[in-house]
Amino acid sequence: MTNAIVGFITKAETTHQLTKPEIVQLLSDDTINDALFAAADRVRKKYVGDAVQLRALIEFSNYCRQNCCYCGLRRDNDKVDRYRLEPETIVEFAKNAAGMGYKTVVLQSGEDMSFTVDKMVSIISKIKKLGVAITLSIGEKSYDEYKAYREAGADRYLLRIETTNRELYKKYDPDMDFDNRVRCLKDLKSLGYELGTGSLIGLPGQTFEDMAGDILFFGEIGADMIGMGPFIANPDTPLAAAEGGTYTTAIKMLAIVRLLMPDINIPATTAMETLTPEGRLVALKSGANVVMPNVTDADHRSKYNLYPGKARLADSPFRSIASVREKIESIGRFVSEDFGYRIKTK
Ligand code: 5AD
Ligand code: SF4
Repeated sequence: MTNAIVGFITKAETTHQLTKPEIVQLLSDDTINDALFAAADRVRKKYVGDAVQLRALIEFSNYCRQNCCYCGLRRDNDKVDRYRLEPETIVEFAKNAAGMGYKTVVLQSGEDMSFTVDKMVSIISKIKKLGVAITLSIGEKSYDEYKAYREAGADRYLLRIETTNRELYKKYDPDMDFDNRVRCLKDLKSLGYELGTGSLIGLPGQTFEDMAGDILFFGEIGADMIGMGPFIANPDTPLAAAEGGTYTTAIKMLAIVRLLMPDINIPATTAMETLTPEGRLVALKSGANVVMPNVTDADHRSKYNLYPGKARLADSPFRSIASVREKIESIGRFVSEDFGYRIKTK
């Protein structure tokens, strides 16, 4: 552990700033990991406290018009048993989640064009009446669509940039356009959504420089939430044979993001748990403050296979909230009782 690199951790903890080469050095040196995680945990405690925000995730359609090379839901994957929930079922799941005490419902799907603006607006308005915050994670849309959803009551939006390396983006998101994705993020921000973005960690060919660039991008775009997870190779995709990202790098990214953006919301993601047992708990002790339990029924959930191993996490929605609460309390934290909006101090 060299003094210079330890100095970067101290600098990040006190000034919340690092240069790109400094981030790269932190990512490259595994002797400093414990010091890095401890610093991120202190910053998390100081800025967002011991509360853990729970968000109830509803995966309402696994249809997708996109063809991302890493993702099991890509349109060319004919092994997927496709489903879309009826609007009434989606609202019903949201009602159950609100009844369990969730204060936020996350509506996630592939880019399913059958959910028209009118259909989505109707679902959002009905869920909004339950008194919960609504997060959407439904992909790239026009400004007018984002505006309609915002006016109907959506509060937050998740749209990962996936990677800021334009070449890799082009390679792995073949029909998509990096600039349009950035346009989406800017539109969402300008419409007053709490903006969530993030990236995949360990895509083939991705370097620590690329990852450091991702972190700087999150700051520039003004993200309020950052969701990151290791890339896990899916056998039914063109990246079947790829090695995949590591838990360690993913958690280091998380810790660095916490140091540099101290007051944002950072989920402990399912992909982390998939690679390491209790991976989400470790993430909560390394800078994360959000968990998104899945409240979709087990039958549909098992068909939402972005990557292998995800379905293994399918326990019943009720057991999820009970066991999640227990786990959170076992590490000296507590489940938040409020809506969990970002309280901006930076
Ligand atoms: N491994 C890990 N995460 C993945 N995602 C898609 N495919 C994979 C995979 N193979 C992530 C993407 C997307 C989010 C919903 O799931 O980052 O934005
Ligand atoms: Fe579709 Fe999202 Fe998967 Fe890409 S990552 S194929 S947009 S569900």
